[in-house]
Amino acid sequence: MDLGLEDKVAVITGGASGIGRATVEAFAAEGARVVIADRDEAAGQAVAAAAEDGGAEALFVATDVQSGASVDALFDSVLARWGRIDCAFNNAGIACRNALVGEAEEDDFDRVMDINVKGVWRCLRRECAEMVKTGGGAIVNTASVAGLVGWRTAASYTASKHAVIGLTRSAALDYARRGIRVNAICPGVIDTPMGAPATRTEGKVHDALLARHPVARFGEPGEVARAVVWLCSSAASFTTGHAMTVDGGFVVP
Ligand code: NAI
Repeated sequence: MDLGLEDKVAVITGGASGIGRATVEAFAAEGARVVIADRDEAAGQAVAAAAEDGGAEALFVATDVQSGASVDALFDSVLARWGRIDCAFNNAGIACRNALVGEAEEDDFDRVMDINVKGVWRCLRRECAEMVKTGGGAIVNTASVAGLVGWRTAASYTASKHAVIGLTRSAALDYARRGIRVNAICPGVIDTPMGAPATRTEGKVHDALLARHPVARFGEPGEVARAVVWLCSSAASFTTGHAMTVDGGFVVP
C-alpha cells in the first residue's frame, strides 16, 4: 500500500528515544523528511544522523515542550528549512512519581501536566495554524491506555493522558473541514526507557502489568510507530478524532 508520505515533512517530539525514535525511523522508511524535536540533544542528533545515513532528509531541533518560545523556535526552524508541516507526532512525555493521590506532590502534578498536556497543546496550536495555510495535514498525539482507564498510584499521569484525548477530539472537530485530521494513540506498556521499570525489571510490577495484557507480552516501539505512520497517511483519510489503542488487548472490556 502506498501511504503517500514520500517527501512529506513529519515533526516528531520526543523523537530521540523509545516510541518517538521508532516513529522517526518508520517515517523515514516511507520517504518522509523527518524532524526530531527533543530536549536530549546528544540522543536527538544521533537519531537524525542515523536517519540521514539511511538516506532520509533529517533535521534535529533541540526543543523543550515546556517552553512556548522553544516550541515556536522548533516550528520556525522547520518552516525555514522546508516551508511546510505535513505530519506531526506530539509524543514527548514523562511518567509521574508513583504515589497514592493523598500522598502525591503538587510539583510533580504540575510538571506532568506541563509536559504531557500543555506541551502537546503548545505544539498542536502551532501545527494547526501552519497546516491550514498549506491545505491541511495529519496530527497524532500520544495518549496511553491510561487515557482511557484509571491507573493506581499514577493519578497525575492518568489525568494528563485523559486530557490529551480531550485535546485531540476538540482539535479534530475544529479542523475537520479544513483538511487537518487529529488522532491520538493509546499504547499499552511498551519496552522503552520509560517502560523499562515494568518491562525490564523482574518483580511484582512487571508481573502485574504483564497480566493486564491479554497477548501476554509488552509492546515494541515499532508496533506503535507503524500505527502512527498509518494514522498520518493517506490510507487513514477518513479517520479523525480517534483514540486508537495499540495495547495487546489491555482495555478490551
Ligand atoms: P522515552 O522516555 O523513551 O522517550 C521520551 C522522550 O521524550 C525522550 O527522548 C525525552 O528526552 C523526551 N522528552 C521528555 N520531556 C521532554 C520535553 N519537555 N521536551 C522535549 N522532549 C522531551 O519514553 P517513551 O516510552 O518513548 O514515551 C513516549 C510517549 O509515549 C510518552 O508521551 C509516554 O507517556 C507515552 N507512553 C509510553 C508508554 C510506555 O509504556 N513506554 C505507554 C503509553 C504511553
